[in-house]
Amino acid sequence: MAKDILITGGAGFLGSNLALEIQRREPGAEIVLVDDFRSGSFLNLAGFRGDLITVDVGRLDWHRLFGERSPEVVYHLASITDTTVTDTATQMRANVEGWRHLLFCLAGKSLRLVYASSAAVYGISSSGQNRVGDPERPANAYGFSKLQMEHLAKRFAGENPQISLAGLRYFNVYGPRETHKGSSASMIGQLARQMRAGKRPRLFLDGSQKRDFVYVADAIEATLAAGLVTKGEGVFNVGSGKARSFNEVVFCLNTVLGTQAEPEYFPCPYRFFQPHTEAALSATEAALGYRPRFSLEKGIEAYSASGWLGRELAQ
Ligand SMILES: NC(=O)c1ccc[n+]([C@@H]2O[C@H](COP(=O)([O-])OP(=O)(O)OC[C@H]3O[C@@H](n4cnc5c(N)ncnc54)[C@H](O)[C@@H]3O)[C@@H](O)[C@H]2O)c1
Repeated sequence: MAKDILITGGAGFLGSNLALEIQRREPGAEIVLVDDFRSGSFLNLAGFRGDLITVDVGRLDWHRLFGERSPEVVYHLASITDTTVTDTATQMRANVEGWRHLLFCLAGKSLRLVYASSAAVYGISSSGQNRVGDPERPANAYGFSKLQMEHLAKRFAGENPQISLAGLRYFNVYGPRETHKGSSASMIGQLARQMRAGKRPRLFLDGSQKRDFVYVADAIEATLAAGLVTKGEGVFNVGSGKARSFNEVVFCLNTVLGTQAEPEYFPCPYRFFQPHTEAALSATEAALGYRPRFSLEKGIEAYSASGWLGRELAQ
């Protein structure tokens, strides 16, 4: 495993899980986090021993902070992650221009670069598996910004063949350290919070819509595997490979929480709501050796065992 690592978005859900997992596996690794705390929380970083730089990625002064230093691996996870922010300029400035600035800082160096894209690039049209190479039809400004990030990465890779680049289209990740995301947290986290508070879990329409829910430990495994890729440029799905309905999620949560809550159904207010997502994983497995280990049932059990399921943010 690499010993000199930079993670942007390090106080967020995926970033903090990634940092803590690398620290656990490689206690001697030098891990620097960059985060401006626009959505992340210090509560996610309990036990983290590395450095943390509080700055907007789009304003990172690489030379002042790092001089000639070149990390072995950079994981770029910082982003606006609230998909309901509909102002295109806001999403684009933060996500695409932040990425462009980071690429500008890294141009000419030799390193491995992993960045977060999203299943949101697929949009709402598909009802089968989502495959890299399918036409992308992002239905909101967030998904559009992620697709622009992929295009930028491809161009950058052509100009910087010494940098390997892996973009990860995460599907619906859930697990410990997502509480700070509030209404942008996974539906599993949000529904568990409602149910633990004795409320009925609220679902859009009839709850039959399906999503590819992937447990964070699997998402981190894929992210670490992407950080080992030493050549070329590619985009990879990161999911569980299975589509499960919101009604099934409520059933699993009832089992784990020991509740008998009945869903309360209500009309969906979003035009860009995806009715079905499901990651095709054969290309991810071939390139990264990634195979998800957690079914929905096992993931929710592990989430519960972590003590984070349904937790309210104490801040
Ligand atoms: N969690 C998911 O299900 C999921 C799904 C698809 C894609 N993703 C992508 O994965 C990445 C991580 O998502 P997450 O769930 O951990 O979200 P998160 O909101 O918990 O983490 C994002 C972190 O980035 C920080 N940040 C945002 N903009 C920044 C900037 N300009 N400069 C510095 N820090 C900044 C935030 O403060 C936060 O700590 C994001 O790029 C997101 O788009 C996540």
